[in-house]
Amino acid sequence: MSRPYVIDELISAKSIAARIEALAREIKTKFRGTDKLVVVGLLRGSFVFIADLVRELDLPVEVDFLEASSYGNSTESSREVRILKDLRGEIGGRDVLVVEDIVDTGHTLKHVISLLNSREPARLACCALLDKPSRREVDVKADWIGFEIPDEFVVGYGIDFAQRNRNLPFIGTVRFTDTQDET
Ligand code: IMP
Repeated sequence: MSRPYVIDELISAKSIAARIEALAREIKTKFRGTDKLVVVGLLRGSFVFIADLVRELDLPVEVDFLEASSYGNSTESSREVRILKDLRGEIGGRDVLVVEDIVDTGHTLKHVISLLNSREPARLACCALLDKPSRREVDVKADWIGFEIPDEFVVGYGIDFAQRNRNLPFIGTVRFTDTQDET
């Protein structure tokens, strides 16, 4: 049985929208003049973010998706990242923007960047909505970050806890309400 929990709002829907407008302005500046920007959403957590972000980008865009899954265990610092769903389109010689929900340990983003770079895009940049720098295990950095957050488990705005809460319009932290201490 799952433990009872409540969600405390961390970042409001209004703050997210304002931040996305600002991110889009910077991204447009970098990619102004591009033929067609391939915006790659990492499934599943980025699906709400990418939907709002592309609507703020008045550039010619193509949207594609990649699904990666990372397997780790507490005894090993290295994690294996597997590609569960690859891109439909080619990115060789194209401008690419990778859109991620959260950079946590960094293994997923590092693996995806290296995979996509091996396909020789013209330019590749990455935008992550959230960053938890205190959790980083590998050296990787997104070009744009929406919000830096502490080491808390978050949900909402596309991000889940055991496949729940993706449809919340804001980002919140999970707080367990039973007597156990650990989250
Ligand atoms: P990384 O490889 O450890 O950086 O993993 C990043 C992925 O872990 C994100 O794309 C999320 O899917 C997931 N993740 C990391 N932190 C959280 C969280 O607080 N809530 C929900 N999912 C998370």
